[in-house]
Amino acid sequence: MTAPVVVAIDGPAGAGKSTVAKRVAGRLGYLYVDSGAMYRAVALWALRNGTGLEDWHRLEQLALAADIQLEERTDRVYLNGEDVTEAIRAEGISSAASRISTVPGVRRALVEKQKQFALSHSVVMEGRDIGTVVFPNARVKIFLDAAPGIRADRRHRQLLDKGIENDPSETEREIRVRDNRDRTRAEAPLLQAPDAEYVDATSMDLEEVEEAVLRIIRTRTSH
Ligand code: DC
Repeated sequence: MTAPVVVAIDGPAGAGKSTVAKRVAGRLGYLYVDSGAMYRAVALWALRNGTGLEDWHRLEQLALAADIQLEERTDRVYLNGEDVTEAIRAEGISSAASRISTVPGVRRALVEKQKQFALSHSVVMEGRDIGTVVFPNARVKIFLDAAPGIRADRRHRQLLDKGIENDPSETEREIRVRDNRDRTRAEAPLLQAPDAEYVDATSMDLEEVEEAVLRIIRTRTSH
């Protein structure tokens, strides 16, 4: 049996990682793993049960205890058996997820769960530290980026599509704060792995990004 392939896609918020990773996984028949959804699920649990986001010990306990299931075909996310797909996208969760993701114990717990996915399946996993920390030996690493204005605009429209009203300048500010925290945290900050391929999606449409990513995968997986 050939070893499972890992395609790691990292990059800042709003660069289009989820959409592209999902489509590419579908094309290749690989498992799609949204690692951000796992941080969001733990953040949701913490907010619901009143855990302070500065209570690192308790946050680590939650991350260890969380039963997080990512349903393959439907992209639904379950936390302790409850479908939280919509709840983890609600207002306030992005920022809370970014805050709890600075906690080393939370990261350790979730990285362990992320590694499990690739034991028996080839995966396309997207996040911030997939090519640097979770799978430093991944066969394929992509750093997907886009200009900040484009990312903020995309996020603004995504929220509107879901019926969530949002002020574009406030959404842009939220993305900047979050990116800055994700890039400057001490533990596993967002950065491009030296052996990752940089893709700038600023002036590309979805199909072009998908093709670029598939090209990189073909190149890196052909012997
Ligand atoms: O990808 P996302 O926007 O759903 O992620 C939410 C937050 O989770 C993000 O701001 C930082 C954190 N995160 C992380 O630290 N490491 C990952 N691999 C994925 C997400």
